[in-house]
Amino acid sequence: MKHLIAPSVLAADFSNLKKDFDMVNQSNADWFHVDVMDGRFVPNISFGMDIVKTMKGIAEKPLDVHLMIVEPDKYLEDFRNAGADVLTVHYEACTHLHRTLGYIKELGAKAGVAVNPHTPVELLDDVLEMADMVCIMSVNPGFGGQKFIYQTLSKIRRLKERITERNLNTLIEIDGGVGLQNAEEILKAGADVLVAGSSVFKSEDPIDTIDRLKNIGR
Ligand code: DX5
Ligand code: ZN
Repeated sequence: MKHLIAPSVLAADFSNLKKDFDMVNQSNADWFHVDVMDGRFVPNISFGMDIVKTMKGIAEKPLDVHLMIVEPDKYLEDFRNAGADVLTVHYEACTHLHRTLGYIKELGAKAGVAVNPHTPVELLDDVLEMADMVCIMSVNPGFGGQKFIYQTLSKIRRLKERITERNLNTLIEIDGGVGLQNAEEILKAGADVLVAGSSVFKSEDPIDTIDRLKNIGR
């Protein structure tokens, strides 16, 4: 499968969201990556379901909603109704992850689970079958524009090995500090989805940057 590109709209211009969404609509990107932060799971607050609903109205590609919130179960239905196509919860925020992933699937969305940089991917062994996607955080979540943590590469390799061994279709997404300078080694390690915020929206020619990220060979 050709890898997917998911520009993170956290780095978009919120005074003119329509313009940035149109750019992504016209580009070679595959998904919109949408970061929801609650000021509790992460030390920052972004936006909630009303804004996600607004985004859904102007997006012509699936919304990949990354919930950096505590007690995500309470809000899954709301975010699904707001238009989330992929719903990703954090391993560290779920006491009953197995149940939560099942619930996301019942809601008809793709189920993702994200792990913070300190969380070993091996902890997902017993829910891998249920996860459509694992999001490996390559920065500590909360802010865009941070430096990629290189230890992530070994996590990608380890997870890829397990997914292949067990013949699963689980996608591996990498989120944080991804750009043209490191995308190739991330893909070589086994990533399927690249999230890119600042490297896309702060570049001189975002459409061209997306195109170059998309066209990297493995
Ligand atoms: C971090 C978010 C990321 C972020 C990526 O908490 O989950 O999705 O927006 O931004 P960049 O690509 O700028 O690191
Ligand atoms: Zn994210």
